[in-house]
Amino acid sequence: MKKIAVLTSGGDAPGMNAAIRAVVRTGIAQGWQIFGVNHGYAGLISGEMQALGPRDVGGILQLGGTILGSARCPEFMTVEGRTKALQSLNKQGVDALVVIGGNGSQTGAYALSQIGFPVVGVASTIDNDLYGSDVTIGVDTALNIALEAIDRLKVTASSHQRAFIIEVMGRACGYLALMAGIAGGAEAIIIPEVDIDPEDLAQELRSAYERGKPHALVVVAEGASYNAQKLEQYFKEHRERLGFDLRVTILGHVQRGGAPGAYDRLLATRLGAAATDCLHAGEQGVLVGLISGKISATPLAQVVANKKYVDLDLLKLAHVLGL
Ligand code: F6P
Repeated sequence: MKKIAVLTSGGDAPGMNAAIRAVVRTGIAQGWQIFGVNHGYAGLISGEMQALGPRDVGGILQLGGTILGSARCPEFMTVEGRTKALQSLNKQGVDALVVIGGNGSQTGAYALSQIGFPVVGVASTIDNDLYGSDVTIGVDTALNIALEAIDRLKVTASSHQRAFIIEVMGRACGYLALMAGIAGGAEAIIIPEVDIDPEDLAQELRSAYERGKPHALVVVAEGASYNAQKLEQYFKEHRERLGFDLRVTILGHVQRGGAPGAYDRLLATRLGAAATDCLHAGEQGVLVGLISGKISATPLAQVVANKKYVDLDLLKLAHVLGL
């Protein structure tokens, strides 16, 4: 009987539990034994894993977070850390590992596959910045959470004719901000991929007011060189000259803690099942994702060597739509 371990790593993403459930149940359906590793690579190093049966993953499909726990694990980036992890896997007799996570996690998965251990990655991060999948587990739910906040801010902004700025996550990638800004009808969107001048932003917001808009809403990505804090500071310093200030909301981890919506549950279920399909077919060292609507398997070497870009035409479209 094959033994497969599964772990979740990095920032948790809504839908991770659905992916764990799919790996466990499709793996067991193949006749394999499945082990859940606690707290990502940290648990792999300390050998914290237990067998999971079909009932152990019952009632988790609709839950945010990850029942296995997650962690950022700098130790796994060292040769010593990876050697300890390999020892834990061998001690338990594990034949292959499924890694559910984003960029850092898949870099770890690649490192493990480079030293000869069979690994399959599952694309999961709210940032949607992972090469090898058009869309990653968790981003849809995170976007909807951001949208709910944007809609609410717009209401109060309109009541008071105020300018608001809302900062969303995304690390160095502007995807979440761009999509939330378009779907939320923001007056301006600021992403790390495009430099801005706060004076131009002030001019844009003033012009929206002059065109009769009762509100001005800016969505900014946390990774932008002018993030919410810096913009707030700038507008405060120049309050008199600019004539208005920006009220700031930083959404932070609220975006990660939600219950997965239908899209993320389905995506996670399909990708979790695809991971065991890969292992069944003898495929390893790959990331399972969704490309052009179809399940894909991209070599981890390509995943870690490439960057995923946001579609900057959408930023132009957002600008036109803010008329
Ligand atoms: O990668 C997911 C993410 O939520 C990023 O958007 C964010 O920059 C980071 O994780 C926050 O990490 P932590 O939870 O470790 O503070």
